[in-house]
Amino acid sequence: GTDRPLAGRRALVTSGPTYEPIDPVRYIANRSSGKQGHAIAAALARLGAHVTLVSGPTREPTPPGVTLVPIETAVEMLAACRAALPADVAVCAAAVADWRVAEAAGQKVKKTGGAPPTLSLIENPDILATLSAAGPDRPRLVVGFAAETENVVAHATEKRRRKGCDWILANDVAPETGTFGGDANTIHLIDAAGVEHWPTSTKLAVAERLARRIDAYFGEGKA
Ligand code: PMT
Repeated sequence: GTDRPLAGRRALVTSGPTYEPIDPVRYIANRSSGKQGHAIAAALARLGAHVTLVSGPTREPTPPGVTLVPIETAVEMLAACRAALPADVAVCAAAVADWRVAEAAGQKVKKTGGAPPTLSLIENPDILATLSAAGPDRPRLVVGFAAETENVVAHATEKRRRKGCDWILANDVAPETGTFGGDANTIHLIDAAGVEHWPTSTKLAVAERLARRIDAYFGEGKA
């Protein structure tokens, strides 16, 4: 019915941080709380979509009707996303670590009194770029986020082109904005037609607006 316009659609949402191990007890992570990604999964499910939520560790409850696939690392997140295909729409809201420790230690690294250890990093796979280039498996609509601290729209426009996604939701994550971990967000949505500046609102309202826009996109017969 019209109250569940996304019924029959499959959605994949990534959320939260990734944890990249240094040794069995230590890891590299970031400040993502999962609030924005989980709210998007919830909003898509309320519109009737079948939602797979691939998430790093968060304190957020799993939204009703959503299938959670918990992961820790970027490599695990990519594998879980591939396994969730095919999907009509993918929304990548996770804050994936760009790098991981090249060779995580098998045992706890000990303080020996000598020089502190040096971490050598290697690049993680880019999940958004991989989904955007997935050939016949590519979701018909791929939506990314861009977390920026300066020149937000310019950097996000370049990121959209480089990663090959359809829409990118740019948000300012400078510390004073409170975007990481907070309840509010200010979005600049960039698509092929240009930029929409959304008023500052709750992450729940951002999620609701995005879900409605995704529904409108499918409704227009563009995909
Ligand atoms: O979790 P919250 O506390 O609610 O905060 C929400 C948020 C700020 C984390 C969220 O709104 C957000 O901006 N998510 C993207 C964070 C990010 O890492 O952005 P980025 O500009 O580094 O990456 C750009 C895009 O590529 C994102 O869609 C990201 O999910 C994706 N990416 C990045 C690296 C990588 N290895 N794989 C990816 O898929």
